[in-house]
Amino acid sequence: MTAVPESTALRVGRPVPSEELLVEVDGLSIHFPVGRAGFWGQRVKVVHAVDDVSFAIRRGETLGLVGESGSGKTTVGRAILRRIDPTAGTIRFQGEDITATKGEELRLLRQHMQLVFQDPYASLNPRMTVLQLVAEPLVVHGRAKSVEAAKSDVVSLLERCGLPADAADRHPHAFSGGQRQRIGIARALALRPHFIVADEPVSALDVSVRAQVVNLMQDLQHELGLTYLFIAHDLSVVRHISHRIAILYAGKLAELADSDAVYESPLHPYTEALLSSVPIPDPPLQRARRRIVLQGEIPNPIEPPTGCRFQTRCPLVQDVCRRQAPPLEEKAPGHWAACFFR
Ligand SMILES: Nc1ncnc2c1ncn2[C@@H]1O[C@H](COP(=O)(O)OP(=O)(O)O)[C@@H](O)[C@H]1O
Ligand SMILES: [Mg+2]
Repeated sequence: MTAVPESTALRVGRPVPSEELLVEVDGLSIHFPVGRAGFWGQRVKVVHAVDDVSFAIRRGETLGLVGESGSGKTTVGRAILRRIDPTAGTIRFQGEDITATKGEELRLLRQHMQLVFQDPYASLNPRMTVLQLVAEPLVVHGRAKSVEAAKSDVVSLLERCGLPADAADRHPHAFSGGQRQRIGIARALALRPHFIVADEPVSALDVSVRAQVVNLMQDLQHELGLTYLFIAHDLSVVRHISHRIAILYAGKLAELADSDAVYESPLHPYTEALLSSVPIPDPPLQRARRRIVLQGEIPNPIEPPTGCRFQTRCPLVQDVCRRQAPPLEEKAPGHWAACFFR
């Protein structure tokens, strides 16, 4: 076996989270009305982006949130950050119900919860210098009098994020994708938030730099006691950073368990299908593994399937799955799955 170079290998060893629940999501549903109500009173169509999703994240924990494109991951993240209003359900942060927080209170709350965007090219204003980009939240929230006054703080934060000392005076286009994402992380950390939603932070990056960015996020978590919701569209990068992983399918949770349990003993057939598309760097093991290729598309969220959302693509489907939605049940200690047959 050839050794994996240290710089591209994912580091193992996650910080131990506390027992305190930092984020609690209970019965979260988000429906988007689309199109106009018809003149004759036809119903407005509704996108069922997220339906009855519940989970909690402990302080210092990383919860991986994984599902195909369109499954509702970004919507869940944005709802927790209070960038969209839930249709139903509650969101608590540090024990406080923030579901309807507004105005000045919301502005103060936002300092504690930040977003790292998927696309480090589109999310950084190309006309601003890196100093301006990272200092902006500090100035907006009154933590620094001016961009210049924030400079020494910004420079040390940039260095902590693995950027060269002279990065502050340059523009984002002078940097590679991986470096831009480091700038995006520095900007998200400027206000010293407790909680970060990282929305597919490495999906747009070259495979060779993904592990470095994930490792950086893990080191920052250690040092700063951060809590992460780490979103990904497949299971290839989340294992080593996540303490637990939640699998989202067509707006509903299919499975939620410790990271190792998800990889070693998945219970939901959708999780198995996601896993079977993750390459294993060991050819005999790769050959031995059952490969499940998902047929068909993710269901139309305007008319989600009756019963189990996964029934149209599930290899285990039975009549009951078409009639009834399987509840998310604790099948083994700490291991939750929504399937009648597991
Ligand atoms: N503002 C919106 N209006 C209407 N539909 C939306 C809106 N935002 C997201 N959706 C729809 O909700 C579903 C979930 O989207 P999203 O949360 O972005 O999924 P993911 O991040 O998993 O790819 C998709 O069908 C998407 O088209
Ligand atoms: Mg998304």
